[in-house]
Amino acid sequence: MKRFSRFLTLAVLTAVATAATTAPVFSPNTPTAPATPANNTLTVNGTETDVDTIASTIQIVDQKTGATTDAPPNQPPPPTTVTAVDGELTNSTVPELANSTTPTKRSLDLSKRLLDGYEVVFDGTGFGPTDRDASIEGTAYLTYTVVSNLTYSVDDCLRFCDRVDGCVFANLYYEYNNALLDWVFSEKSNLKCAVYADVHTAAEKTNFGGQQLKPPPEPLVYIQNSSGYAAKTLVDPPVPDGYELVFGPTNGANNAPGYMGFAFLDKYDVEACTQLCNTRGPDGNGGACQYVNIWRAVVNGVPTTYTCSFYYLVADESTAVNFGQGDLKVTYSRGYKRKSLIQDSGFESFAACPVPDICWTESDQFWVATSPSGGSFDAEIIHDATDAHSGSSAGLLGSGFGSDALAGTLKPTNTLDTVPGKTYLITFFHSSSFSGPDLEADAFVDVMWNGQIVETIRPGFSNWKYFEFRVVAVGNDELAFHGGKAPAWSFIDDVYVFLA
Ligand SMILES: *[C@@H]1O[C@H](CO)[C@@H](O)[C@H](O)[C@H]1NC(C)=O
Ligand SMILES: *[C@@H]1O[C@H](CO)[C@@H](O)[C@H](O)[C@H]1NC(C)=O
Ligand SMILES: *[C@@H]1O[C@H](CO)[C@@H](O)[C@H](O)[C@H]1NC(C)=O
Ligand SMILES: *[C@@H]1O[C@H](CO)[C@@H](O)[C@H](O)[C@H]1NC(C)=O
Ligand SMILES: *[C@@H]1O[C@H](CO)[C@@H](O)[C@H](O)[C@H]1NC(C)=O
Ligand SMILES: *[C@@H]1O[C@H](CO)[C@@H](O)[C@H](O)[C@H]1NC(C)=O
Repeated sequence: MKRFSRFLTLAVLTAVATAATTAPVFSPNTPTAPATPANNTLTVNGTETDVDTIASTIQIVDQKTGATTDAPPNQPPPPTTVTAVDGELTNSTVPELANSTTPTKRSLDLSKRLLDGYEVVFDGTGFGPTDRDASIEGTAYLTYTVVSNLTYSVDDCLRFCDRVDGCVFANLYYEYNNALLDWVFSEKSNLKCAVYADVHTAAEKTNFGGQQLKPPPEPLVYIQNSSGYAAKTLVDPPVPDGYELVFGPTNGANNAPGYMGFAFLDKYDVEACTQLCNTRGPDGNGGACQYVNIWRAVVNGVPTTYTCSFYYLVADESTAVNFGQGDLKVTYSRGYKRKSLIQDSGFESFAACPVPDICWTESDQFWVATSPSGGSFDAEIIHDATDAHSGSSAGLLGSGFGSDALAGTLKPTNTLDTVPGKTYLITFFHSSSFSGPDLEADAFVDVMWNGQIVETIRPGFSNWKYFEFRVVAVGNDELAFHGGKAPAWSFIDDVYVFLA
């Protein structure tokens, strides 16, 4: 028997019950009495992006900076900063990448090849004795240098930009009456070259100086001849380890279900965005962060912040339909999916009967279940919408017919395509509610990695609940779930293995 119809008549049920002398009639494969439902199954409705909170936070965040009067030149750019999280303004750095192979992006790389390829965005003004100009205060400020003021050294400034990772824009200007530039810093030049990871326009010339940095009656700081240059081509950001590009760049942000919140970054830093996804706590209903959408917010033509939104469901370009509202425009929107090494995470490729019928199998293309000798269906893949966390299928541990109390094993058919030495995150949902509080008391699952128990969970009677475990790979690793002690059944669903 591989199939059970919920529409069997009572007479047939009685006959089945009579025939089944060894096995209890009440089991996942033959649920002739109503099972205790596992609650907290995956909710999708009403979990879309909170577009309004993102838009209102954009209105209050201020990420516009430039080279301050007191900072020394040639400092490495600061690490990417998180300026808001879920509507609250913050000022924190992104957690360091764990065992990252990506070289640090925060140094000044003096070996980088020099590039041509800039265009003038705006010219400077204010050359006369009483004329004045202003320097840029904008987003994604990186660092500055001073270049020789014997001539207006545009080339030296652009070559500096070439050497700063992420630089796409330079603002060159004279800053007069700064005691540090005139008397202290060794370069002895007042021609400042401030570089940015985003392109700015003359509309953002808002720093007119005005500080008294030399003892009076020396004049106040003022700015002259402030010009701007942008890289002609913007390179696509590298795809972070453990992720793949889903779409972009486009001018539409995702408005998609499975939304977990957002962070603002002080620059368009895809790696920082995915790192925040990796380190963000799971959603109790949906599990780990599996997808990010990064985009630039432009308000009244001015770059304002870089939004990184998190999702426990993978989205794509079809929902990237938020183009902005009012003064706000969405630009450079890209989606990245966190790659899982598990094929068919939800067991959904097994669907051998129509809902609401129940059917089961010991193996399909992606999963294989085994029983110890003497056992029968001690692990299986079961197609039954009421037993699944999401979709209509799940993995089951414990005899599907309730015919023995032996523990079975459920594992992916193929070993995992891991990189030796890397740390991976195993995530899954588990429920053990089927037979009720008393009979489920002994529910247990051994989470196995290469035949070793990573941890044994003993949840007793439990709803769908999220679990995660960290493991280190040796290459071609084998994940398995071992457990079940019918009638203490365990259901497993939505299994993922991510690079940690
Ligand atoms: C989800 O929303 C859609 C349309 O808004 C509706 O048709 C469907 O019944 C809802 N599903 C649930 C489970 O609420
Ligand atoms: C953020 O914190 C750093 C270090 O504490 C500080 O230098 C910087 O001024 C702060 N920025 C904001 C916007 O508060
Ligand atoms: C980095 O890798 C080592 C093993 O190579 C491991 O012991 C350590 O826990 C890893 N660190 C993190 C933060 O994952
Ligand atoms: C002002 O800037 C322009 C380039 O925008 C440059 O050609 C000119 O020489 C500069 N003038 C002075 C006085 O440095
Ligand atoms: C060049 O910079 C130095 C140091 O700030 C300053 O003393 C000098 O007057 C500047 N020369 C010009 C032509 O602005
Ligand atoms: C799920 O909810 C139902 C109805 O509220 C309840 O009877 C059942 O015990 C719950 N299941 C679990 C596992 O708590």
